[in-house]
Amino acid sequence: MRTPTLLALMLGLWSGAALALAAPDEARGARLFSDQCSMCHSLSAGENGMGPSLHGVSGAPTGHASNFAYSPGLAAHKVRWTEANLDRFLADPAAFAPGSAMPVSVPAATDRADLIAYLKSAR
Ligand code: HEC
Repeated sequence: MRTPTLLALMLGLWSGAALALAAPDEARGARLFSDQCSMCHSLSAGENGMGPSLHGVSGAPTGHASNFAYSPGLAAHKVRWTEANLDRFLADPAAFAPGSAMPVSVPAATDRADLIAYLKSAR
């Protein structure tokens, strides 16, 4: 009786930890956004800075913000901002859309996942 209970407890803890590792952390994404993105991007609709507003960007077509002068590189790269495309773009904007004017990249996959979770909440 004792061993199975302990085993079940350990399995429960282990799968809980694995889930915590796998699930993107939106709150952490918000902090990363404020540190690395907010100097150029707002999440308010229509508020463009050095970069376009990212309000509702998740699921939208590339170059989704109105009244923003996109680079010809990004404008020519017509896809939807799925999670996978956002991930590829953030990992290396120039490789995703040659000629893109976005000057920063996010090398760590967990950082990208957390940022994307946060971007998805901004609709
Ligand atoms: C120094 C300014 C700057 C910073 C910092 C910056 N960006 Fe950008 N971003 C831009 C510019 C400029 C564009 C437009 C690129 C183009 O036209 O090629 C852009 C475009 C984008 C787009 C595509 C938007 C669309 O409407 O298609 C996304 C998504 C994006 N940035 C996310 C991010 C995230 C997430 C961060 C933080 C990790 C970030 N950016 C940091 C300047 C910046």
